[in-house]
Amino acid sequence: MIQALKQLETEARQEISALSEFEKLADLKIKYLGRKGLFVSVSSRISELTPEEKKFAGQEMNRVKKTLEALFESKEESLSKVPSTSSGIKTDITMPGTFSSSGNLHPLTQVTMEVVDIFERLGFSLVDGPEVETEHYNFEALNIPLNHPARDSFDTFYLDNGKLLRSQTSTVQIRVMEKVKPPLKIIAPGKVFRPDATDATHSFMFHQIEGLMVDEGVSFADLKGVLFAFAREFFGPKTRVRFCPHFFPFTEPSADIDIWSEKRNDWLEILGAGMVHPNVLKAVKIDSEKYTGFAFGMGVERLAMLKYGVEDIRHFFENDVRFLRQF
Ligand code: DAH
Repeated sequence: MIQALKQLETEARQEISALSEFEKLADLKIKYLGRKGLFVSVSSRISELTPEEKKFAGQEMNRVKKTLEALFESKEESLSKVPSTSSGIKTDITMPGTFSSSGNLHPLTQVTMEVVDIFERLGFSLVDGPEVETEHYNFEALNIPLNHPARDSFDTFYLDNGKLLRSQTSTVQIRVMEKVKPPLKIIAPGKVFRPDATDATHSFMFHQIEGLMVDEGVSFADLKGVLFAFAREFFGPKTRVRFCPHFFPFTEPSADIDIWSEKRNDWLEILGAGMVHPNVLKAVKIDSEKYTGFAFGMGVERLAMLKYGVEDIRHFFENDVRFLRQF
């Protein structure tokens, strides 16, 4: 009987280790350890033994039973970790899938990226500047002294510590020219802040993109060439562009640039620009006899509203996915 038990153990070991399908494990367990299984039938022969033999056989029975139980248990664990593919677990490929929405970039981000991309292709480098600024960068260095009437038109949020929230990205012109000497060509997108009452065309926070090019011999013709190229890339190759005389303290001469809208049958302003004022170059110690430059600034919300026909600036900031999903 001891012999038979040993043989049973060996066979069981082999069969268990050869088994690879989880679903067949239960049957195998019944074959060996079931109520009418091989273990029971071998063990029943204990009654044929002498009392001494019985003692030893009983111990062997216990050992073999425990061994087999442990083997089945560990096999069950290892098989349940393997994903079952070809057999058993059935996949119903006609069942509807799980929907996951992937989202998209905010329309203002998309417009900013598109504008930056156009200017990068024209050789401009992307730069950044702080949103909390000093009066020096927001005004003085841009040729807007304290008593200058133009200062009113850049209405400003002042902070307790004497600093302010920048009301224009033109600040970045100064920060760049302090550090980098010409030739330079930069494009600087970012947030600006003005204490305006919110309505369909005003928001206390909006976005601008500033551009600046300074080198020897830069002329108004260069400014026109670059901005015409931009307008046609952004709004389409047939876009009509016009320059209207305007005033900005930091450029001289200055212009407002309009594009023609067939839909509205009217000219629409898209940006301000001009030749960098000599006082601005002086403030950053660049020789205004040797170098000239042009600068421009545009509102991102305005570009997006014109491009996509959005009627109210507040849509961009309300985070209503029914609006945002359309872009
Ligand atoms: N900073 C001006 C504004 O906020 C926009 C602007 C106009 C920027 C002319 C310029 C420029 O660089 O040359 O209204």
